[in-house]
Amino acid sequence: MPLPKQSSPPQRTTIAVKAKAPTKSIDRFFAPCPRGLEQVLADELASLGADHISMTDGGVGFSGAFELGQRACLWSRVASRVLWQVADGEYRVEDDIYRLARTVDWPHMFAAHHTIRVETNAIRSPLKSLDFVTLKVKDAIVDKFRVAMNSRPSVDTSMPDMRIFVFLTEYRATIYLDLAGEALFKRGYRREGLAAPLRENLAAGMLLLKGWKGDRPLLDAMCGSGTILTEAAMIAMKIAPGLQRTFSFEKLRFFNASQFKYLRDESRENIGQLARELIYGNDINPAAIDTTSRHLQNVVGSETLKRISLTNLRAEAITRPAETGLVLSNPPYGERMEELADLRAWYPALGAWMKRELSGWTVCFITADRDMPSGLGFKPGKKTPLYNGALDCRLFEFQMYAGSKRTDREQREP
Ligand SMILES: C[S@@+](CC[C@H](N)C(=O)[O-])C[C@H]1O[C@@H](n2cnc3c(N)ncnc32)[C@H](O)[C@@H]1O
Repeated sequence: MPLPKQSSPPQRTTIAVKAKAPTKSIDRFFAPCPRGLEQVLADELASLGADHISMTDGGVGFSGAFELGQRACLWSRVASRVLWQVADGEYRVEDDIYRLARTVDWPHMFAAHHTIRVETNAIRSPLKSLDFVTLKVKDAIVDKFRVAMNSRPSVDTSMPDMRIFVFLTEYRATIYLDLAGEALFKRGYRREGLAAPLRENLAAGMLLLKGWKGDRPLLDAMCGSGTILTEAAMIAMKIAPGLQRTFSFEKLRFFNASQFKYLRDESRENIGQLARELIYGNDINPAAIDTTSRHLQNVVGSETLKRISLTNLRAEAITRPAETGLVLSNPPYGERMEELADLRAWYPALGAWMKRELSGWTVCFITADRDMPSGLGFKPGKKTPLYNGALDCRLFEFQMYAGSKRTDREQREP
């Protein structure tokens, strides 16, 4: 078995001396994201300074200094996690993976009182049981601690301090230490739930996919708990999505608190103002408007909240707030049959509203209902497959041209 690629700082240091973060060495990372947003995440990581960016289904690999991994946790709006590669090598049997995990100097990374959780995923692995691989890697970590310091971390599968991910292909095993902790879409502003909220990184990713950077009006006509609006406010004001939360890398032995404080302080200093007449939200349910308002307030504060217009109307009753802009909304899914029937009965009214009020606007709906465009009476200019959790959705885009019968007719389905 070839020697695994391993990050240097834990090997270079001793337990007694607090290890230094590997500012000069180049590390490899993998950031999972909602499927369909890989290119958006790749662009985001490139803008943070990542190198050797490679996209796969559901995530993006990249290289950079260790500090880049921390920066990505703080700044990525689209990544679900940032995984730091700590070992990589060929394997044939489970014991090869045990040996690979033993090459990692775990006791130099975190303390024995921290809890761990190991998770294994595979594509085309010949091994019979991934649970057995998980067990082997957990044993390797525990054995490494026992030998080094006669104490061992215990396992906590629900709220571990350290998450270790094992990824197997047909021949290679790669071991990652998660730098995020709780998934990165948990920004810290959502303190109450309404039914069916979008994941925060999906909402932000759709805005970025549509090129929305706070430069044109945005309307979410059915905003629910306000995820799209809150992510939009953060994009427009350049608020780092991770500013209100902590990360598991803060528990690493070589975590440089003052360096990270500098990153946080810098991001706070660069927060901008929110323009007036930029963000508009609406929902038919008054409780949704209350929740949206609280979520927005948790992020932008009560003064800036006054610049965001929230209404409690049927979507079809909204008067266009500007000549042009982006509608990005997540209509009810209609997962039960009777709901689906109601939903489809509603689409023609929504289509009539788009035609009446939204000429000059780009209108995007994310839905699992493939029949939405024909129900609205418009042919989408673009449809992007996206996953909302496990739900296979489409983001439909309709370009509503200014008041011409010709373009309406062209867009209408035959
Ligand atoms: C799937 S939820 C949106 C979830 C939201 N994206 C979030 O992240 O919380 C759909 C929303 O559409 C709203 N809704 C349903 N019919 C509506 C209508 N005719 N006009 C406006 N809003 C409507 C519901 O009250 C619900 O909040």
